[in-house]
Amino acid sequence: MSCLVHSCDLCSPLSPPLLATLLQIGPCLTCFPRSRFRTRRRDLSGRARACSFSLSRRDRVFFALPLLDTAMSNRPFSPNALAGKVCIVTGGASGIGYATVKAFLQAGAKGVTIVDLSADAINRAIDALAQELGAEVKDRLYACAGDVSQEETAERYVQETIRQFHRLDISVQCAGISLPSTDVADLKVSDWDKTMGVNLRGVFLGVQQSIRGILETPRGDGEGGDAAIVLVSSQLGLDGYAGSAAYSASKFALRGLMSSVAQEVGPKGIRVNAVCPGPIETPMLEGFSAEGHLTKGNIKRAGKPEEVAYAILFLASEASSYMCGSSLKVDAGWSKWC
Ligand SMILES: NC(=O)c1ccc[n+]([C@@H]2O[C@H](COP(=O)([O-])OP(=O)(O)OC[C@H]3O[C@@H](n4cnc5c(N)ncnc54)[C@H](O)[C@@H]3O)[C@@H](O)[C@H]2O)c1
Repeated sequence: MSCLVHSCDLCSPLSPPLLATLLQIGPCLTCFPRSRFRTRRRDLSGRARACSFSLSRRDRVFFALPLLDTAMSNRPFSPNALAGKVCIVTGGASGIGYATVKAFLQAGAKGVTIVDLSADAINRAIDALAQELGAEVKDRLYACAGDVSQEETAERYVQETIRQFHRLDISVQCAGISLPSTDVADLKVSDWDKTMGVNLRGVFLGVQQSIRGILETPRGDGEGGDAAIVLVSSQLGLDGYAGSAAYSASKFALRGLMSSVAQEVGPKGIRVNAVCPGPIETPMLEGFSAEGHLTKGNIKRAGKPEEVAYAILFLASEASSYMCGSSLKVDAGWSKWC
């Protein structure tokens, strides 16, 4: 994508945030007074080095920003969107969680802890990420196996992350389960408890420990600095669905948790939001009929894990700096009420 920005002597110069945003979008062509360019160039430090420019008039500089690596044009976000950030992704060994870890690494995260049930599954995910992104990403990954519904797991993955990477900025609560569809009249109490245990209790524990961890590490502005917690709810957290009472109740409740916690910690600099995916092609969707995906959504296919991961990345990054307490639908319009 390329864009043309014109700023003449009568206009105010481009502000560093605007220019930084343009740099993130992709190759740009901008124009503004040369004297100010020097300042802006300094503001952008190393990132403006890729600019090529030519003088067109004495007091004006045109410069193109073909920017950084060409691979960036395949990504809808900046390779610096999460520079220096340390993140946790629960359920990171598979599906949406895996795609989120990958997106975070591509966005320059300093470190990502993958939390999942089995150490083997996490190690396979790490090998796959190294295959996709290069062996050096292994230095930015940390594995933490455990059951998120257990209190000690959340405490452990937060503390080990801080020990490993010396801070915590972002926590994505993605681990979840969906048991086979059952009418509520036949639903086993044990299945209800299991669903709530992972999808709600696990997220509550993760949010609680993550807040403590984020506040424990030194921040810039405010107590939390630019910290973010993203909860993975669902389209079924917006609309119920026959046969999914336990799952849907857990995902509705998760948004209640998100909304309350956002009010508590938003003022401390920790933004808390939720993403509500529609049907996404992951192991969780296997066994479910494709009919609903093709008929209910406005885009006639199931989503891909990375299409949710990009929304999570947006909520985790400063691009969403005025969002706190929101539920972001990524469901091609499946759920209609909001
Ligand atoms: N796939 C979809 O259609 C869809 C739609 C809406 C929401 N979601 C939500 O997205 C999230 C990710 O699901 P997915 O589709 O990527 O599924 P997935 O099965 O591919 O990934 C879920 C991951 O969570 C892990 N996990 C499950 N229970 C755990 C536990 N107790 N402790 C630690 N890890 C555990 C699994 O091992 C797995 O790696 C879930 O919260 C799910 O409810 C998925």
